[in-house]
Amino acid sequence: MEIIKVKDYQQMSEKACQLLKDKIQEREQPVIGLATGSTPEGLYQCLIEKYKRNELSFKDVVTFNLDEYVGLEKDDPNSYAYYMNEKLFKHIDISKEHAHLPGGVTTDLEIECQDYEKLIRDAKHVDVQLLGLGVNGHIGFNEPGTAFTSRTHVVNLDETTRQANARFFNSIDEVPTKAITMGIDTIMESKEILLLVSGESKSEAVARLLQGKVSEDFPASILQEHNRVTILADEAALSKV
Ligand code: GLP
Repeated sequence: MEIIKVKDYQQMSEKACQLLKDKIQEREQPVIGLATGSTPEGLYQCLIEKYKRNELSFKDVVTFNLDEYVGLEKDDPNSYAYYMNEKLFKHIDISKEHAHLPGGVTTDLEIECQDYEKLIRDAKHVDVQLLGLGVNGHIGFNEPGTAFTSRTHVVNLDETTRQANARFFNSIDEVPTKAITMGIDTIMESKEILLLVSGESKSEAVARLLQGKVSEDFPASILQEHNRVTILADEAALSKV
């Protein structure tokens, strides 16, 4: 794993933006895995600015998001589909057909999971997967205890995860109890992984990711076994390493 230490959130976002821009421009049809949450917001803002300055085009970019809440429609302000549209897609020249998220509202969630896997396979896998880190070590919505062999599946969200994400909702009762997420094995098949971490609240999780043993109790620990992982973290996030 390569660790890049930066001063703060802004530097993390700018560095991630530069790295991703280079990856996009290196390939003819780049396939990029995207994440949600607060962490990548600065990165998305920076990518939009590069697009507006004509330094970057997303015309040939294909994207796959990690996860989506079950039960939230695409136009629900708390859905990840809405988040992606507001924070990135509607501001850039990406084709709607190229920007994929699992569907959280469907008659058959199992089929939705299988279809999503197939889409990723048909795209010849993800070139660079962006990841955030949950305080409990989750990646995507793969909670502690998820099998390392898992593919895209439906998860029951941990109470701690629901609480951590409650800040985006009116109350904890509105936070969905289930989500669809790419599995750990799906994520591990990405050719490269870029994990972003910022802030003191993630410092224990980062220390465990880097120094703990590889265990399904701490999903992010599997990244130790991927041969191309870059961890881009600020000083506060690395304060316990
Ligand atoms: C969320 C998302 C993850 C995200 C993580 C950290 O629940 N499902 O994909 O990486 O938790 O979120 P944040 O960046 O807001 O700390």
